[in-house]
Amino acid sequence: MTRDEVLARLEGVKSPEGTPLPRTGKLSDVVVGDGKVFFSITVDAADVKAWEPVRQRAEEAVRAIPGVNSALVALTAERKAGAPSAPSVQAAPARAAPRGESLQGVPGVEAIIAVASGKGGVGKSTTAVNLALGLSALGLKVGILDADIYGPSLPKLLAIRERPQMLGGTRLKPITRYGLTVMSIGFLIDEETPMIWRGPMVISALTQMLREVEWGTLDVMVVDMPPGTGDAQLTMAQQVPLKGAVIVSTPQDLALIDARRGIAMFRRVNVPVLGVVENMSYFLCPQCGTRSDIFAHGGARREAERLGVPFLGEVPLHMTIREKSDAGLPVVATEPDGPHAAAYRDIAAKVRDQLVGAATGRAAPKIVIEAQSRHLTARRQD
Ligand SMILES: Nc1ncnc2c1ncn2[C@@H]1O[C@H](COP(=O)(O)OP(=O)(O)O)[C@@H](O)[C@H]1O
Ligand SMILES: [Mg+2]
Repeated sequence: MTRDEVLARLEGVKSPEGTPLPRTGKLSDVVVGDGKVFFSITVDAADVKAWEPVRQRAEEAVRAIPGVNSALVALTAERKAGAPSAPSVQAAPARAAPRGESLQGVPGVEAIIAVASGKGGVGKSTTAVNLALGLSALGLKVGILDADIYGPSLPKLLAIRERPQMLGGTRLKPITRYGLTVMSIGFLIDEETPMIWRGPMVISALTQMLREVEWGTLDVMVVDMPPGTGDAQLTMAQQVPLKGAVIVSTPQDLALIDARRGIAMFRRVNVPVLGVVENMSYFLCPQCGTRSDIFAHGGARREAERLGVPFLGEVPLHMTIREKSDAGLPVVATEPDGPHAAAYRDIAAKVRDQLVGAATGRAAPKIVIEAQSRHLTARRQD
């Protein structure tokens, strides 16, 4: 099955005006690989309703092509020139609404939290998986969403090779592993095929993974965010109804600078930072048990204190964590009695306490800035 075959099949799908889809100029690149097809349709924000049936028909048409195992067609709403630049999407509010109440949640999901890092390779995904398992060990019903579209790692970290099933033609059934409900863009897109993601496609794919997946009832959904603090990350942070964010950093200065950017980014969009995890905090020699602080241990704790965000704990750099993680056997699930699992469960307990605190109003008071006559005043909102 080739890109041209897909385009030929889409000739039979008409726009609301009756134009064959490939000739509307609204189609993104069609990405084809290993039985999977992905593309997006970009339309004016005002026309989204009229286009939704077209999106569905396009998905059905592509799915009917022999050799296609999965098809993901994203509908992306684009603002008119002159409007604020953040891309918006059908299910998300089209206006630059203030965060929070206006962001539509995911039905059945109590709290969505992000695990983020200023840069890649610091152990964000490993932390996300073990944190999710730690929350699960505390008795919570937990899901994990791999939103790291540039480098999805959940298929590997959880050794998942099967594809999600479709339910009734439109909704995806997530995969269950170690008691976690799991969804990753990596289940739909070939890991070997590099994808070129444009801003609106990112948001659209993410929105669908949040809203067109049968997540069921969850206490917490952990989202493994893409690394970095660029536009894509900022928009994601804005579009997902997040209760909070956990920042992962290694202790070196350079990583901490990136972590600081991460914290600033979430603050900018009013997502509470639940705290910082110092990963690869110190090295435990597997032979002699000697500890060495190769990356100057403690940097993340000091940085968290300086920025006034909670410090959630440290995880050592350890062979077992790397080996288990990369083999799809996360330590919290496979060595629950070991010291690493205990460290992750401690971190999970701190995160849970903060989420509970937020729900019962024990979290830090909100500061409201308002204009009174000609002065700006800040007051606590309890
Ligand atoms: N605490 C740790 N000790 C040893 N290896 C680790 C630790 N945390 C992560 N790793 C390893 O580091 C690599 C990068 O981790 P990963 O979680 O994929 O990072 P990211 O998602 O930030 O890119 C992986 O090979 C992983 O197994
Ligand atoms: Mg990762």
